[in-house]
Amino acid sequence: MKKTISGFSKLSKPDKVRWVVEQFFQDPESAEGELISFWHRDEEQQRILDGFSENTLSNYYLPFGVAPNFLINGRIYAVPMAIEESSVVAAASSAAKYWLSRGGFRAEVISTKKLGQVHFSWKGEAQKLRRHFGELEARLRLDAAHLTANMEQRGGGVLGIELLDMSHLEPDYYQLKVSFETCDSMGANFINSVLEEFGSTLRIFVQEHPAFEGAEQQLEVIMAILSNYTPECIVRASVECPVEALAMGPGDPMSPEEFVRKFAKAVRIAHIDPHRAATHNKGIFNGVDAVVLATGNDFRAVEACGHAYAARDGQYRSLSHCAVEDGRFRFWLDLPLALGTVGGLTRLHPIARRSLELLGNPGAPELMGIIAATGLAQNFAALRSLVTTGIQKGHMKMHLMNILNHLEATEKECREAVEHFRDKVVSYKAVREFLAMSRTEEGKK
Ligand code: HMG
Repeated sequence: MKKTISGFSKLSKPDKVRWVVEQFFQDPESAEGELISFWHRDEEQQRILDGFSENTLSNYYLPFGVAPNFLINGRIYAVPMAIEESSVVAAASSAAKYWLSRGGFRAEVISTKKLGQVHFSWKGEAQKLRRHFGELEARLRLDAAHLTANMEQRGGGVLGIELLDMSHLEPDYYQLKVSFETCDSMGANFINSVLEEFGSTLRIFVQEHPAFEGAEQQLEVIMAILSNYTPECIVRASVECPVEALAMGPGDPMSPEEFVRKFAKAVRIAHIDPHRAATHNKGIFNGVDAVVLATGNDFRAVEACGHAYAARDGQYRSLSHCAVEDGRFRFWLDLPLALGTVGGLTRLHPIARRSLELLGNPGAPELMGIIAATGLAQNFAALRSLVTTGIQKGHMKMHLMNILNHLEATEKECREAVEHFRDKVVSYKAVREFLAMSRTEEGKK
């Protein structure tokens, strides 16, 4: 059967669905029905969603939840989270509640500088470029003024332009490395527009400047694009309390001192072993990505940057740190986060807009703090489980519903299973056996 097509993008949405189900599904009618059943009942809302991407067939649903009780910089938040993995929202909520009575989270934005690059080849003298760089910089700023004027009014714009000679790494390779302040927007479109303008100014400058006469063939602009690695757009989230205040109450699996010792060791291991560091940081991004997604931000950019930052000294390491000094426990996370609370999807996606409203319509720096605190909370909850009960106890407790759904349990069976497993370890096998047993008993009645 023919599975390729020309002009697919021009088909209507129902025709796209029809073509796909007929080519790729065993039961086209049922696949078509299911895809269409997830269309939004409100045509206007569906039109907005379809506008975000291309060749849309349907909507892909993810749970949207909330982690209440987050005390960050003295203010209470209920943090919106979009995530498919069970126990993540519970873990964030549990850590938020735990730190609520221990002083809460502190978040501090260290800097908000974003970066972009114009990559180019220059076969002429390096010295000539350097000598005329001051003039070039003035021209770059002037030519891009129509793009930067509004951002400057908001307090942002182009912060600096550097000329980098990278010809020791790649023949004739140079770079304009540009830093930006983009205020409450993530700024990707702004940065890319300015950089493309810089690329064309660079070409014109070399064509027109008398010192470069006849040298225009020696210059080639390769590309102009923002960098998703923004190590100077960074926030620190932290928690701190006396060691003895870490006691969880009656039924504690271990003393606060023993807990802190194991917890600090677990963080240390994530600093020295990249295999553990990747899992440790994945736990941090469980929280980070969920809020980034809920607020309509770019989680690929955030992940790429976070992981690059985790490997900044040449080895991939934990993004969080722990210290125990003078009887005080400190746990903190330094995270580069390029985010927006205006522009992009943030105000277009209806649930992203509601997420921001739920957070009190923060500016980008405040959102950086909320997201870093959620990442730290997630990391704290995971490590607390790992060094005390083990992760499976809590994770599988939350995963029980997925197993029951997978085994097509009825509502009554689900209720009975939740009750049965309240004090037992959940596993797929144990749930299957429980259902088999209760179905046999039911059959006997
Ligand atoms: P628990 O002690 O059984 O919870 O912990 P609880 O029933 O005593 O409830 C305490 C609080 O937890 C609740 O307070 C909630 O805040 C929250 P309350 O609302 O009652 O006032 N909570 C819930 N919130 C929403 N829905 C629920 C729920 N249950 C509790 N159903 C818990 C259970 C899962 C919280 C705990 O075991 C935990 O934090 N586990 C860690 C889970 C985790 O990290 N999951 C991520 C997936 S594993 C992973 O991908 C990352 C990892 O590999 C990273 C790494 O290795 O570092 C682990």
